[in-house]
Amino acid sequence: MRAVITGSGSAIPKNRVTNEMLSRLMDTSDEWIRERSGVETRYYVDPGTGTSDLGVEAAERALAMAGVAKDAVDLVVFATMTPDHYFPGSGAILQKKLGLPSVPCFDIRQQCVGFLYGLQLVDAHVRAGLSRRALLVGAEVHSGFMPWTNNWDYLYGRSETPPTPEEREWNSRFRHLTVLFGDAAAAVVIEARDGAHGVVDQILHTDGNDFEKLYVPGVGFAHRPYVDPEQYRRGDHIPVMDGRYVFKMATTRMIEVSQELLKRDGVGPGDLAMVLMHQANKRINEYCQKALGLPDEKVPHNIQKYGNTTAATIPLLWDECVRGGRLRPGDLVLMVAFGAGMNWGATLVRV
Ligand code: ACO
Repeated sequence: MRAVITGSGSAIPKNRVTNEMLSRLMDTSDEWIRERSGVETRYYVDPGTGTSDLGVEAAERALAMAGVAKDAVDLVVFATMTPDHYFPGSGAILQKKLGLPSVPCFDIRQQCVGFLYGLQLVDAHVRAGLSRRALLVGAEVHSGFMPWTNNWDYLYGRSETPPTPEEREWNSRFRHLTVLFGDAAAAVVIEARDGAHGVVDQILHTDGNDFEKLYVPGVGFAHRPYVDPEQYRRGDHIPVMDGRYVFKMATTRMIEVSQELLKRDGVGPGDLAMVLMHQANKRINEYCQKALGLPDEKVPHNIQKYGNTTAATIPLLWDECVRGGRLRPGDLVLMVAFGAGMNWGATLVRV
């Protein structure tokens, strides 16, 4: 049996935020953000909306496309680095909100590579005969780690009170990170089918040696208590990112793992209909595209609209390509991602 993606769906929150709007809160500019990352807009949820809520919306659409009833789902894998609660994971909450039977729900923590790790987990369940209809969700609510706690109304133009100089300085401290991220969810239905469609091959890697180059220093059980006002005052609830290091590792590893997988499967760039790259920075992907010898029309981007939506980026791209008629049955697709951990990987899927 092969793990075949038979449906997909996405959920984008309603609050669209431009680069110019962000420059109301911190020292940044549309020009800088576009030039360095390719991001033009991103979307944020309203407070009270969690990854499970976005995940439910995306999952409903994926199930509708696949024509699969909720009571036929026998496995859930939920990939997120921004869960609703420290525990339980968002998978259990999605199970309740979606009204699924009491099926196994895994929560996985591989950040930007979460979707590819999830795909391997589902594929293994399918091949082992443990699942026939799985739901794989990638969802993020990054707006929860944005530092401008008191400035949300000013951002949206609902208040006339700009940030104080101290607030502006605080917001600017994290500007290299915050401008990149947006909220979103995307889900796929994966069914066990005979034949040549579905997941073809995958290679995943993790190297934890440099995890501190991209991580959240606070809000963890290495601290006692695991969260306290001092951590908040230091900004330890906001990710630390060595942008230059991550940029270099992302380009190196995404190229390496793509070549490793293509070689193993005897696939050339000409055999690929589409290459779906994780959307962390458009410049990273342009670099990888060139090194892999891929034409523009095979490498879609959506980072300009949504920013980096971590575990949601690849299924979101997949859903856009399917709904836009850019992916057709029989197409061979390469997915490739790199992110915090550090984790990286590549997957070949026959549509
Ligand atoms: N607006 C204006 N200026 C800024 C901003 C901003 N938002 N952010 C940083 N700058 C300034 C810096 O202060 C610095 O100024 P200086 O020269 O006066 O010191 C200058 O711009 C250059 O800063 P760099 O950090 O060197 O800029 P760089 O070109 O490396 O771009 C970026 C930064 C966009 C973060 C890039 O390094 C990057 O995209 N890295 C990879 C990010 C990534 O892939 N993350 C992984 C995914 S996330 C996950 O897995 C959870």
